[in-house]
Amino acid sequence: MTTPKTATLTLGEQSMELPVYSGSLGPDVIDIGKLYAAMDVFTFDPGFTSTGSCESKITFIDGDKGELLYRGYPIDQLAEKSHYLEVCYLLLYGELPSATQLEDFETRVTRHTMLHEQMQGFYKGFRRDAHPMAIVCGVVGAMSAFYHDSTDITDPWQREVATIRLIAKLPTIVAWAYKYSIGQPFIYPRNDLDYASNFLHMCFATPAEEYHVDPILARAMDRIFTLHADHEQNASTSTVRLAGSSGANPFACIAAGVACLWGPSHGGANEACLQMLREIGTVDKIPEYVARAKDKDDPFRLMGFGHRVYKNFDPRAKVMKESADEVLGLLGVEDNETLKVAKELERIALEDPYFVEKKLYPNVDFYSGIILEAMGFPTSMFTALFAMSRTVGWISQWKEMIEEKSKIGRPRQLYTGAANRDYVEVENR
Ligand code: CMC
Repeated sequence: MTTPKTATLTLGEQSMELPVYSGSLGPDVIDIGKLYAAMDVFTFDPGFTSTGSCESKITFIDGDKGELLYRGYPIDQLAEKSHYLEVCYLLLYGELPSATQLEDFETRVTRHTMLHEQMQGFYKGFRRDAHPMAIVCGVVGAMSAFYHDSTDITDPWQREVATIRLIAKLPTIVAWAYKYSIGQPFIYPRNDLDYASNFLHMCFATPAEEYHVDPILARAMDRIFTLHADHEQNASTSTVRLAGSSGANPFACIAAGVACLWGPSHGGANEACLQMLREIGTVDKIPEYVARAKDKDDPFRLMGFGHRVYKNFDPRAKVMKESADEVLGLLGVEDNETLKVAKELERIALEDPYFVEKKLYPNVDFYSGIILEAMGFPTSMFTALFAMSRTVGWISQWKEMIEEKSKIGRPRQLYTGAANRDYVEVENR
């Protein structure tokens, strides 16, 4: 972080020099940390469209170029050449691992895949029709009640154990949420399988017969995990950082991230997108829905389109689209009606001046739902899969924040409510 420049802020008679920092990539930032003390004003940026909330070395997005880097490495290279656990190591520790470091990391993750047996009782407290995200949010939060020996955030060793536990146990937590919802027995993790294969096994195997994980599906699953692993200071990550800034334990912070991710403007978009494609139903109905998306008086939006940061294309969507073609080819579902609607919708929206002018492109969620459905996941599981993949990003960002000893996050406001007034007794109102 360098400070070659300053910005001058003038307000009436007063003026102030504000330091300007340059990162290794991306726009400069103006440091307004001392503004309130010096000039008695706050900045105002609801939705944080022009606000950098922290310094970070983990992930970089260039929205104009459609570029996503994890620790400097482009996402398309990682999706093609690496695999999820290696990417987890990279995000957490900053560098690609040596062969020995990777083996050690994989062993550590693998040794933590089982859930405390008593947690099964916790699952059984949920209604059978509970949304998997409700269960995942609850069970992740409940980890703080089961793993007391990794909740002291001042101890680096406990932070490390909590990190490994979260990455290792999330597949089990998510797979069991699915098993519970369909009334099948929980399948225990298999540590002889790789991360993605083990997850597919826990979702789709039953004790009654042998289940063989298709390596192409496992590879596609692993790529979905990699593409979702981190995305700098998005809503759920900022939620995790804010929760963590108060000193809350890591399991509570990740549960907060899961809750935030659930919303349809964020991680919930993959579920909402597939529901929308099904609602459209047939290709001839597309113009009606495109017209609704363009109508200012209609709240309807094309789910899976648009992004706060990407204004060219979403690089994750590009890789996801290739994966979708591969998986659908393998499963022989290219003729599926939902897929036809998706392809035609994509074609129409990409040519429509409304979407072109507003730079609204298909995002990662547009394609991920199509692959996940083809693999046999119900739509309600889509966001839970996103949460599982993003856990490493959340915990990496949380770890970075704790190691930097940040202050508690405490934004201020523009108050427009009633001014000071005296209480009026009920009989006088
Ligand atoms: N369909 C129709 N119009 C849209 C859409 C859409 N999907 N997205 C944005 N717009 C319009 C919006 O109406 C607005 O128009 P105007 O300027 O005339 O008022 C303009 O584009 C800018 O929209 P915005 O809401 O100010 O943009 P934002 O940066 O606040 O929102 C977004 C980004 C992702 C929330 C939004 O594009 C959206 O709601 N998309 C659909 C939901 C979705 O797919 N979300 C997943 C995002 S990727 C996964 C993740 O990282 O979580």
